[in-house]
Amino acid sequence: LTFVEVDVSSLTPGTSLVVQWRGKPVVVRNRTGQEMKDAEAADLGTLEDTIARNANLPADAPATDANRTMPGKEAWLVMVQVCTHLGCIPIGQDGEFGGWLCPCHGSQYDSAGRIRKGPAPENMAVPVFQFISDTKIRIG
Ligand code: FES
Repeated sequence: LTFVEVDVSSLTPGTSLVVQWRGKPVVVRNRTGQEMKDAEAADLGTLEDTIARNANLPADAPATDANRTMPGKEAWLVMVQVCTHLGCIPIGQDGEFGGWLCPCHGSQYDSAGRIRKGPAPENMAVPVFQFISDTKIRIG
């Protein structure tokens, strides 16, 4: 399938689900207020990768927290859960930055999925997606 539709009605803040899209895991996370605050507070100058890597935005969009999400839907992070180092699957809500920790070589991502520490060169990718209703997301 070139796209998947995901029912996110069961996701309360602080919970996630993972769907397969084009053979890759895509995590959909309804972030907590604290996770959003932490991600917004990150100084862009300290980021390892300053590009949003969001397929819904221009290729040079900066990696602000807002640019990692959708306008009006900032709680929702939709992201290909594949480490940009060598392709392992990072573990959610682990590591020093409140995001994802890669078990292979220790890359650490923040609550916006941006690389903060370790060998991975890029933020995890945000795929093309849209909300087709308040409770349904179409990925792809
Ligand atoms: Fe994730 Fe190497 S594959 S740190």
